[in-house]
Amino acid sequence: MPPVDRPRFAVTGRLPAPALELLAAAGEVAVADVATPLPREELLRHVAGAAAIVCFLYDRVDAELLDAAGPGLAAVANVAVGYDNVDLVAAAERGVAVANTPGVLDDATADLTLALLLAAARRLGEGERLIRSGRPWAWGFDFMLGRDLRGKRLGIVGLGGIGSRVARRARAFGIEIAYSNRSAAEPALVAELGAVRLELDELLAGCDFVSLHMPLTPQTRGLISAERLALMKPGAILVNTARGPVVDEAALAAALRQGRPAAAALDVYEHEPRVHPELLELENVTLLPHLGSATVETREAMATLAARNAVAAVRGEALPTPVVA
Ligand code: GLV
Repeated sequence: MPPVDRPRFAVTGRLPAPALELLAAAGEVAVADVATPLPREELLRHVAGAAAIVCFLYDRVDAELLDAAGPGLAAVANVAVGYDNVDLVAAAERGVAVANTPGVLDDATADLTLALLLAAARRLGEGERLIRSGRPWAWGFDFMLGRDLRGKRLGIVGLGGIGSRVARRARAFGIEIAYSNRSAAEPALVAELGAVRLELDELLAGCDFVSLHMPLTPQTRGLISAERLALMKPGAILVNTARGPVVDEAALAAALRQGRPAAAALDVYEHEPRVHPELLELENVTLLPHLGSATVETREAMATLAARNAVAAVRGEALPTPVVA
């Protein structure tokens, strides 16, 4: 009997062992031994002949890449909840299923969002920079004052899995919740949070803190524009753990320079990994290198879920978490 071809899984970077074991039990696994993006030409070669591609948010999955994989490609499993790096139309045209990793990173990302809100409200980055600079300092009654969280209102743009977890955590700090969303949230969630739904512009104008949790789509790209930033309260804080391009970064730098909003905390950037040079010069912005889901437990859960999607696809089974365009 001729040997039966085992499906090939092309993994575009290192993954935790449990995910690789799942893939290895179902086929041949080709892992790029890197923790950073593969150069494009290498990426195109790496996916050739794959039945499923397991990839990361920095891999551009477009018609060229799908064609480089070839006609046997059944699925792309993105190890991320966001899938703005994937051309869903090109995938659908080729009959390639797309999966993401919703749910498993909600708590980690919500934790980081609160860390950023606290960092901005209490000037943690600025304080740390001061200590490390060796410049003299002393306790002072009006030294480096921040803002209380209790009694403030947080506007959540996109009350999904992550946004709702941010809201619950914020409630524990005594913060009121407003949200803006394409559709109204579940009544039980609204009641639990005591949340009010506002139009985006009203939310920006009426909240002390604003946290972004919407996906990057053609509709949300540049949504937080100069005009919208100008609506924010003078003392407001903007937190972005979603995707960089939802904010006009040059406009944000200019707005922060004027002190309105008073501060921002960013985990993601418009031209990631590049950060707008003007932001680097400002004290009132906290900058992290896209760490939202970066915990050992969460990354393992994401990788395992992506592997389960890839295996299901090559077996012709329903994907656990398909992206529905
Ligand atoms: C991280 O940014 C993700 O989309 O999972």
